[in-house]
Amino acid sequence: MEGKHYINGEWSTEGDGVIDVRNPATGELFGTVPNGGEAEATKAIEAAEAAFPEWSKTTAYHRAELLMKWHDLLLENKQEVAEILTKEMGKPLAEAIGEIEYSASFISWYAEEGKRVYGHTIPASKDSKRIQIIKQPVGVVVSITPWNFPAAMMARKMAPALAAGCTFVAKPAKLTPLTAVKIYELAEQAGFPKGVINLVTGSAGKIGKVFTSHPAVRKLTFTGSTEIGKELMKQSSETMLNLSLELGGHAPIIVLDDADIDSAVKGVMASKFRNAGQTCVCGNRIYVQESIVDEFSRKLQEAAGKLKVGNGLDEGVEIGPLVDKDGYEKVEKHVQDAVGKGAKVLVGGDGQTANEAYFYNPTILLNANPDMLVMNEETFGPVAPIMSFKTDEEAVKLANDTRFGLAAYFFTESMSRGTYIAENLDYGIVGWNDGLPSAAQAPFGGMKESGIGREGGQEGLEAFLETKYISIQL
Ligand code: SIN
Repeated sequence: MEGKHYINGEWSTEGDGVIDVRNPATGELFGTVPNGGEAEATKAIEAAEAAFPEWSKTTAYHRAELLMKWHDLLLENKQEVAEILTKEMGKPLAEAIGEIEYSASFISWYAEEGKRVYGHTIPASKDSKRIQIIKQPVGVVVSITPWNFPAAMMARKMAPALAAGCTFVAKPAKLTPLTAVKIYELAEQAGFPKGVINLVTGSAGKIGKVFTSHPAVRKLTFTGSTEIGKELMKQSSETMLNLSLELGGHAPIIVLDDADIDSAVKGVMASKFRNAGQTCVCGNRIYVQESIVDEFSRKLQEAAGKLKVGNGLDEGVEIGPLVDKDGYEKVEKHVQDAVGKGAKVLVGGDGQTANEAYFYNPTILLNANPDMLVMNEETFGPVAPIMSFKTDEEAVKLANDTRFGLAAYFFTESMSRGTYIAENLDYGIVGWNDGLPSAAQAPFGGMKESGIGREGGQEGLEAFLETKYISIQL
């Protein structure tokens, strides 16, 4: 597949040669995209700047119509888009189809929500004055999205931005740009006017510098690592960009002794092994109350041992490859470090590498402790370390003992214990007996070093709006 930039309504291949896109399940070349840089990023921003005045004045109803056409096209073509996604990213086809449906859910939800951008009036302290508050689109938005959810992370940003009346420039991840190209082809068919949506592929460093320094850009929305997020935040200080940063996580999962153990195992499996553990919100460390550790870990071991590992295009595969060698080596390092510090491997603990494809087997580790890397850093792989705890207070303390605060999970049948835990976890997203809390209508985002702002829900639309106060002297 040959990908192209989409700038001002035209497909183009300018740039410094091409970037190869490889299938992580086979190591084979799947396609190419142009290696764009400063010139292409500048053109795309200027196209978005020129399109903004007219687009921002269209009605929310008109924008919703276009968004819904795009939504319908995406669902009509979901098999094809999902196959591209699996070929460049590796996740099993069923999960890729799920991701396309998840992406479409953001588009339809924001098509509707864009019609509900309300302002308000406030009683003034003098009869001769009126106070009005109105909401307006922030302006040109640039986005940088990751490889682990190449469709959904772009849709979660692009749909509310367009619904709010902003124009948009996307920079997809270098490893997975072709899903974005296909989604843009469908958006073009839906009929967005030229310049409203733009796509630039290529060098993150060069494009990112233009994104954070061009005076026409008003907002940067980024999903990726905390380290890159901090760098973008520094770069954005010169132009005082409005920022949404959805960064790294290190999610704890707490299983209390009154949990329904079978449901807890299902919830942990869903959270931990989705996308082979390559998810910012996936459970990274599991704290289980001591009286149920044996039963819980035996059941989790059985469930993990049944997962089929392989090429995501093959029937029945549930765990695809890790995205690249670096990803594999990090997982291997976490497991080796844990074993060296006393963890027992219940299942997995190894992988297969051949022809530049890196598969790691679902792994359950028992007797984890706070000194292990896996209990302190995001693993981004299919590894579940289990550590026991005694009291609810201890579990919350262990869960909060991190610089991250994206997602946390717990399992209990008790309303009062659950309320205590939910209210005391320092996390932006909390799953109570729920391993998969992400949804278009709910705010997704983190506290502490997991980022700034929220995507999804009403908050995700607010992120693309400015608040203007109009004081009227009669
Ligand atoms: C992520 O990994 O950042 C996205 C996962 C989700 O939306 O559930």
